[in-house]
Parts: sequence; structure tokens; C-alpha cells
Amino acid sequence: MTIAVFGATGMVGGRVAGEARARGHRVLALSRKPPLSDDPDMTPVAVDAGDPDAVREALTGSGADAVVLTVRTFPADREFLVGATRAVLDTAARLGVRVLVVGGAGALRSPGDRELLVAENPAYVPDEYRAVARAGVAQLHLCQAHPAADWVYLSPPAVLEPGTRTGRYRRGTDTLLIGADGRSWISAEDLAVAVLDELERPGPDRHVTVVRENPRSA
Ligand SMILES: NC(=O)c1ccc[n+]([C@@H]2O[C@H](COP(=O)([O-])OP(=O)(O)OC[C@H]3O[C@@H](n4cnc5c(N)ncnc54)[C@H](OP(=O)(O)O)[C@@H]3O)[C@@H](O)[C@H]2O)c1
Repeated sequence: MTIAVFGATGMVGGRVAGEARARGHRVLALSRKPPLSDDPDMTPVAVDAGDPDAVREALTGSGADAVVLTVRTFPADREFLVGATRAVLDTAARLGVRVLVVGGAGALRSPGDRELLVAENPAYVPDEYRAVARAGVAQLHLCQAHPAADWVYLSPPAVLEPGTRTGRYRRGTDTLLIGADGRSWISAEDLAVAVLDELERPGPDRHVTVVRENPRSA
């Protein structure tokens, strides 16, 4: 496949690009300041995901078979996130290309209380992260309301951080998962494994999540 990765300079996007290359896929590495690369199958593309014309130009004729969206801003900018997601979905729908959105844990339901979104649950989201969590919820709603796009929204567990690649994770759908160690956690490396697994073998669910699998129970 040729996989277009928006946010390829980021924590998640960089690992998705690396995992894709390790599996032999070609990568279009998109961000405002794309990485230099001497890998002929990793093509840097400078694009502002907040500019719908630029998104359309970057994807049209690119040969992309799939798009992965992993952009974020500091501080969280809900308008940007929703606008960039809409721009990517619009173009991908026109091109007939599937989009995997790496979104937020806040869009998941709470374990034990399906009516309570993680974004509104102080057990998982402290007040200072509520705005970013709600931006992820808005991003999921945008996907759900899109009339034509083929998308899947991957919510990370509560904690996502750089770590090691084990290749093992447990997959769920719209409810936050807790690992065997009691933590809702995964490394960005293993999240990238889950992203590529989903692209290579699309599952039936539009909202999915993953958690680190305890190596002893795998
Ligand atoms: N537990 C959780 O729910 C959790 C935890 C962490 C992350 N996440 C989610 O995972 C996703 C990726 O996060 P991350 O930590 O990898 O982010 P990150 O490391 O901050 O990377 C953000 C990426 O977005 C790109 N970007 C920002 N503005 C852009 C623009 N206008 N146009 C194009 N590219 C732009 C940046 O590249 P340039 O600056 O070069 O443009 C960078 O590559 C986000 O959706 C985030 O919310 C969720």
C-alpha cells in the first residue's frame, strides 16, 4: 500500500510511518514541516492540514491507498481538529480511500458506565485535559456525521506514551479497556502496530480501541 500519514513528525505519526515502512508499505509523510528522508519509499510532503485546498492537492494524484490522521496542536484547537478531519474525509471520500483517525480516549465510554463518556469522567480525565478530550469527541461526531467517507476512529487507551514495541495488544470497540495490570495504557509503538493491522485487515467496527496486552497472558 501507499499510506498517507498526516502528522508524520509526531509521536504517533512517526511510529505509524516507521511501522508502515518496516512492513514494506510506501509512506507519504505529511506535516507542515515534514522530515527529511533518504528513504525513497518515504516521501515528505509539506501541507497544512487546516487548509482544505492544500489537503486536496496533497492527496489527489498521490496514489494513496489509505490515510492515517494523527495531527494535534498545543493548546488543543477544536476548530482546527474538526476542520482538518473534515478536509481529509472530504478528499478521501472523493478518492475512494479509507481513513484511519487516531483520536482520543475521551470519545470512549467508561468501563462499567456506558452512558458516561471518558471525556466527562474525572476518574480518567482531569479538568485540565477536558478541553482536549472534548475536542476528540467532536472529531468522532464529525466522522459519524460524514455522509460518504470510509473511516475508522481509533481511540488510544487513557495513557499513550513512547515505549517499546511488543506487537501485542488487546482490541475493543467503543469502551475504554483496562489491561491485566490494571492500567489503561499502550506504547505509541504498539499503537502503530494496531494501526497497521487495521489498515491491512480492516475490521467491522468504526470505533475501536486497544490496550497493552500483558505479555504473560498473551
Ligand atoms: N490517551 C489519548 O487519548 C491520547 C494521548 C496522546 C495522543 N493522542 C492523540 O493521538 C494523535 C497524535 O498525537 P501525538 O501525540 O502524536 O501528537 P504530536 O506528537 O504533538 O504530533 C502532532 C503532529 O501534528 C502535526 N501538525 C500539527 N498541526 C498541523 C497542521 N496544521 N498541518 C499538518 N500537520 C500538523 C505536527 O507536525 P508539524 O508541526 O510539522 O505540522 C505533528 O506531526 C492526536 O489525535 C492526539 O489527540 C491521544
